[in-house]
Amino acid sequence: MKLVVHRLGAIDSTQDEARRLLRRGEAEVGHVVLADEQESGRGRFGRTWISPRGGLYATFVLPGIGLASLRVGVATVRALAEVGLDAKLKWPNDLLVGERKLAGILIEREGDRLLAGLGVNLRDAPLSTAISAAALGITIDRDDLAASIWAVLRQAESEAETLKAYRARCATLGRRVRVVQGEGDAVKGVAIDVDEEGRLLVEAAGRTITVSSGPCEHLDEQG
Ligand code: BTN
Repeated sequence: MKLVVHRLGAIDSTQDEARRLLRRGEAEVGHVVLADEQESGRGRFGRTWISPRGGLYATFVLPGIGLASLRVGVATVRALAEVGLDAKLKWPNDLLVGERKLAGILIEREGDRLLAGLGVNLRDAPLSTAISAAALGITIDRDDLAASIWAVLRQAESEAETLKAYRARCATLGRRVRVVQGEGDAVKGVAIDVDEEGRLLVEAAGRTITVSSGPCEHLDEQG
């Protein structure tokens, strides 16, 4: 299936545009919305995604697949590796280079479709905790990157294969972490695995705690 690209200039959010197109029957699985910049780009947990010109702001329309958030993360890491950029995943799906954030992923639902939103800092890193491909000396064409992510995503892969590929690229495993669950309940411990539902297993005070969502922070050894 060839990727159908909706290219836009400045818009509110590619997530919102993809949703509008889907509702009007103008987008389907295999379509991606790309914007030059976003005025109301959003991240996980209601955060703002600062979206200046020069970055990749994309929403892929996907079928309701299992482990979608991990799959999109792995596909992005693989596509970046093809152009020589070695990124790792912080659970569940932030792309890091060292400890700095290169890209983020936001999965939302629209009926039985998934809106897989991806922001990659190609030219600028809008925050001090972020990094861009340009700062690493790598120039990446936005449209080429979207196409190679799609090429990876459309390959049939079992959940077991996704999980294996994810674990191999996950920088969180083996690290001390702090994860906030639900209403601000924080867990500190060592991330030991990701289970078959994509949840993070954290060993804390001799117990294994299963975390299904929530912001995850990598701590140093003393943290
Ligand atoms: C995160 O790290 O919190 C996820 C960031 C996701 C940002 C992308 S940019 C394209 C798409 N449109 C949005 O408004 N958000 C996602």
